[in-house]
Formats: sequence, C-alpha cells, structure tokens
Amino acid sequence: MSSICKHFPDCGGCRTIDVPYADQLLAKQVDFIACASQHFPEAVPFIAPIIGCETPLYYRNKMEYAFGSDETRVYLGLKRRGHFDQVVPLTECFLLSDKMGDIFAICNAYFSEKQTSTWNPRRHSGLLRHLSIRHSKGDDQYLLNFIVSEACAELILPLAQSLAAKFPEIVSILMSVNESHGDHALFSSSDILHGQDFIEESLGEVRFKISPLSFFQSNPRQAEVLYDQIRKLAVESASDRILDLYCGIGSIGLYLARHVGSVIGIEENPSAINDAHANAERNGISNVSFKLGKVKNILKFETFDVDCIVTDPPRCGMTPKALKRMIAVGAPRIVYVSCNPVTLFQELAVICENGYRVDIVQPVDMFPNTLHVETVVKLVKI
Ligand SMILES: C[S@@+](CC[C@H](N)C(=O)[O-])C[C@H]1O[C@@H](n2cnc3c(N)ncnc32)[C@H](O)[C@@H]1O
Repeated sequence: MSSICKHFPDCGGCRTIDVPYADQLLAKQVDFIACASQHFPEAVPFIAPIIGCETPLYYRNKMEYAFGSDETRVYLGLKRRGHFDQVVPLTECFLLSDKMGDIFAICNAYFSEKQTSTWNPRRHSGLLRHLSIRHSKGDDQYLLNFIVSEACAELILPLAQSLAAKFPEIVSILMSVNESHGDHALFSSSDILHGQDFIEESLGEVRFKISPLSFFQSNPRQAEVLYDQIRKLAVESASDRILDLYCGIGSIGLYLARHVGSVIGIEENPSAINDAHANAERNGISNVSFKLGKVKNILKFETFDVDCIVTDPPRCGMTPKALKRMIAVGAPRIVYVSCNPVTLFQELAVICENGYRVDIVQPVDMFPNTLHVETVVKLVKI
C-alpha cells in the first residue's frame, strides 16, 4: 500500500502509516483478542470494540528529533529503522504537526551554513544532539529544546530569534546540555533562549503546566477519550474515594477529582509528585493528595478504605508484591489501565483468582500508525 508519508518505511517513526486507519483498528482488535485468548481466555467475552482516534495524524504532544549530517549539510530527522547511528532526514512529520517541515528547513539551513558538527553515537563526539519539540494541541503552543553536548547559547541564539519571529506560536526555546554518552534526549538543566520554560495543555477541565522533563500523555486529545472511559468505569457516586496507583503527574486523579469525594495518588518519581501538587494547586483542586514512594511499599505500610482503585503501571506491569497488596486493599472496584496487553491479561488472571471478576475490557487506540494498544478494564469484587 502507498503511504501518505514519503519517509516511510525508512524512518523509524511510524510502523503502519501505509495501512488505512480503519484496517489498522481491525488488525489491533484481532491481535488484542489473540493475546487475551493466549493469556486469559476468560476475558475474551468482555472485550469491547477498540475506540479509534479521531485524528490519527499530528496527534503527538512531544517528539525528539535527532541531528545528523553528511559532507555537505546538517539535517534533522528520526533514526533509521533498526539503526541507532543513522538519521533519516525529514521534510515532514505526521506525528507532531504540519509546521515541522518549515522548522526543520530553517534549522537545517542555519546549522549547515555554520558547518556545525552533529553527535556521532559511535564516537561520542559532535555538538548538536537532539531537537526536542512539544506541541500543545489545545493552545497550539510550541516548546523547542536544542539538546547539545556542550553549552553554545551564542551559536543558537540568532536561530532562536528568527524562529520566534517567524512562528509566534513558539512560546519557548531552550538549550540543554547532555554530556552523557547515552543516546537519549536527557539533560540536567536548561538555558532559556526565548520566552518561558514550559507550555500548557488542557485535559478536559484541568490545565497542566508541562516542563521539558515532565511526563505528559503523548496524545492529549485521545487521553481525554481514555480518561472519560476511566471516569465512566471508576466513578459511581460523587462521594467516591479513589486510590490512583502509579499516578505520575496526577493527570488521571485530577481529571476525576471534581466528580468524586477524594483522590489519593501514589508515585515513586519525586519530580512527578512535585508536578502533581503544582497542577492540583493551579487548578484549585483540594480533594487530592499524593504519596511519594513505591506502590508495593506504601500499600504494605498504610491502609486505605476506598471505593475504587485506578492502577496505571509502566509497561512491565505491576510487581507480584504490588499486585498482591493492591488486591488485599479489597476495594469494591479496580480499574486497570495498561499499555501492555500481555502483562495486563497475565495480571487480570491473578486478580480474578483472588476474588474479582472482569466487567468490561475496553481497548483504546492512543497511538495510530503503530502497533500499540491502550486498555481500560473494570474489575468488580465478587
Ligand atoms: C504509565 S505511567 C502512568 C502515569 C499516569 N497515570 C498518567 O496517566 O499520566 C507509570 C508511572 O508509574 C511510575 N512508577 C513506576 N514504578 C513505580 C512504582 N514501583 N511505584 C510507584 N510509581 C511507579 C512511573 O514513574 C510513572 O509515572
């Protein structure tokens, strides 16, 4: 099939952009049911049709583009599929926004003219590493972060000024130094070259401040669809007490807070907990509290009397101890949110061996043009 993107299939960004979106959804549903059949067949009758994404293009909130170069020029792009040391130059990118072609062209021309060196991940040398871009879908604001191997604000400042003049929607341009050899867009501090050091995005009624290092839902518009499903399955009454495990910056709990009595979030990452507190305060939400620590430890040492547990663990799933202690809380409902169907079905089997039954399994497509599926499951205590 032909692809809308001319960089497919060299670019590692989109795996299935050559497949019509309706067919992608069908394939995801078939694979999802096959996965359930293998790991927890009892769940199959409860699987609802996958909820598709209304905007399968330009849906991402954040991308990390890599710098590459050849004898004649510097260019921005994404890693060639299966090659950590090769960058495919891009003139468009359907993952983030339709402005990418213009922004890439301006950056490419500037650094090519200056013959700036780019990072070589084999030799661990070269100045320009990544351009990390965040785009808020609701406000159409951009944050650009040039990630370099050593400070070079005087080099990037004129480029930042011309980008900001051409695109008023760029509200933030930063330069961050990553001295490590690892090939991830990591850094410890940033210099502001233009505007502020954050952008804002709304999920439903809640407004979030997003700093360069904050975790935020990659597909904000579809996150609202996902969170509406969570709300529908988790909330039964305005007085409900919710325990939000693996709460990150608190986005699920804050989304639910105005519809329930109280929310307690648990998260191990201190900077995410700081963001969660700040977001609660910014939004005037006072019925939420957050606990810093590992889920398995907090559930071991504290008791919780709640109506519903929402759990949204990382891809690897919950640890056996965390799972056991969550079940032991004995909440009437558990809403399990997962980005990994294999660990999800394996853990659903354990939860159902221990006094719960599956009520509904709702897959949601958060990542069109990839093979990923997100799922919300409601479990009810028997
Ligand atoms: C999939 S994210 C969920 C984020 C959040 N629920 C949201 O929707 O934005 C998983 C989160 O779990 C946190 N985490 C990972 N292992 C943890 C653990 N053992 N205890 C507590 N939090 C953990 C990560 O830092 C991350 O924020």
